[in-house]
Amino acid sequence: MKKRIAVIPGDGIGPDIMGEALNVLKVVEKKFGHEFSVTEYLAGGAALDVYSTPLPEETLSGCKASDAVLLGSLGGPKWDGLPSHLRPEKGLLGLRGGLGLFCNLRPAIMYKQLSDACPLKAEVVGDELNIMVVRELTGGIYFGKRERDGESAYDTMNYTKGEIERIMHKGFEIAQKRSKRLCSVDKANILSSSQLWRDVANEMAKQYPDVELSHLYVDNAAMQLVRNPRQFDVIVTENMFGDILSDEASQITGSIGMLPSASLSEGHMGMYEPIHGSAPDIAGKDLANPIAMILSVAMMLRHSFGLEAEALAIEEAIGRVLDEGYRTADIHSPGMKKIGTKEMGRRIAEAL
Ligand code: IPM
Ligand code: MG
Repeated sequence: MKKRIAVIPGDGIGPDIMGEALNVLKVVEKKFGHEFSVTEYLAGGAALDVYSTPLPEETLSGCKASDAVLLGSLGGPKWDGLPSHLRPEKGLLGLRGGLGLFCNLRPAIMYKQLSDACPLKAEVVGDELNIMVVRELTGGIYFGKRERDGESAYDTMNYTKGEIERIMHKGFEIAQKRSKRLCSVDKANILSSSQLWRDVANEMAKQYPDVELSHLYVDNAAMQLVRNPRQFDVIVTENMFGDILSDEASQITGSIGMLPSASLSEGHMGMYEPIHGSAPDIAGKDLANPIAMILSVAMMLRHSFGLEAEALAIEEAIGRVLDEGYRTADIHSPGMKKIGTKEMGRRIAEAL
């Protein structure tokens, strides 16, 4: 298979972890006989430094002309003081909107090798935790009309029926392939956009009679996630609620440095990135955990290219390296072997 991949290493630890992920991709290429051509682009702070914009036109058009995008991480304190339209995060929103990436998959998986790092009691989490947060990514308050005028400011949360339907379809389809349970999260006791959200979800449930749809208000969902996370399998929710709940879900796995994400469009185009941020304090120090970035490569192979065996091979290679007791600093615990970014990347590539 021949594919074009746009690579945006970004800021902070982005370049550190991307280097390891691309090495693993090269091994997949060789082992399975594919041809991946990789082109690097700038976005976020790295682009601000060169082009004074967080998303240069060349980056967006280069991504559009590719089959998939790999992104490290964007942002850092260096660019904190800039006005909001020039913040590195704007680059991320521009990519999501510009590439039509309305569906964000954020798996929160507790790795058995790392279950010690889970902050909840063992009897609460059990020995397995695997929740899929399906977050709407190009609508709602992130993309609504906003204004700040002196001492008054507003943001608007707007959804159309069509926007809700397309993300709900994804939620139902994913639930069909998993436990057949879908929990839709909203704030329908207060927000009009949530009332529409819930009505559309209920209407669509008729098309998926094999999936059991439930609803939770977002505040209750946040509480239930720490009270009894095992009740959840697939959660579907709007943009901002998904932002918040996916951070919470990832943290209860204790494996935030391990979790990848996929942002998908209607077609095969997808952007793949770790859930964690740019961790500027450890950038360039060979301390970052490259696993979330490497797992993002696996998600790209699976979701954009349909290469399931290749994706599984990467995931298994990571499992073997963890089984051997190798850990980067963020997931290290007594008795384990502490290694750096490069050694972790090399060991995973070798295991593959
Ligand atoms: C995320 C991040 C982004 C978001 C920020 C960096 C704009 O928190 O991907 O979850 O809020 O979506
Ligand atoms: Mg977030």
